[in-house]
Amino acid sequence: MLPSVWSKACHIPYPRHPWRKGICMAFLSWHERYSVGHAEIDAQHQKLFELVNLFDDVIQMGIPGELNRIVDDLISLSVAHFRFEEQLLQGADFPRLAAHRKLHEELIVQVKEMRIQMKDGGHQSMKGIVRFLADWLTNHILREDMEYKPYLMTEGGA
Ligand SMILES: [Fe+2]
Ligand SMILES: [Fe+2]
Repeated sequence: MLPSVWSKACHIPYPRHPWRKGICMAFLSWHERYSVGHAEIDAQHQKLFELVNLFDDVIQMGIPGELNRIVDDLISLSVAHFRFEEQLLQGADFPRLAAHRKLHEELIVQVKEMRIQMKDGGHQSMKGIVRFLADWLTNHILREDMEYKPYLMTEGGA
């Protein structure tokens, strides 16, 4: 089992952020169909869902000062998750690892570009960023991450 770098990667305390209190509708909801059959990977994906939800909350509540911090967390958590996933796939001899790694790298480049563009963006562009992240994450899990599911069927998914 690879060591988890998760708790060190993030600025914002999870899972209970005070701003989420009283908010009933999460932007992204976890469902069993997102499980790749590996408990640690599922837990990391759930944290990413939570961070996208937090991003959405902060936009709705108009707290622009926190947005950069959340995007920084998204970048560091995504990098940590991708590294973990790639190491696991390497150990499992996953044949399409190179292509998978390239998708991860492209997303990080895109999010870093968004972070720069966010300085000039209004509410609408922020919602666009959240939608992009939610779509990317759910599509990536359902399409590309699911491809490795048979290679990692070990410790029981969430
Ligand atoms: Fe992935
Ligand atoms: Fe993943």
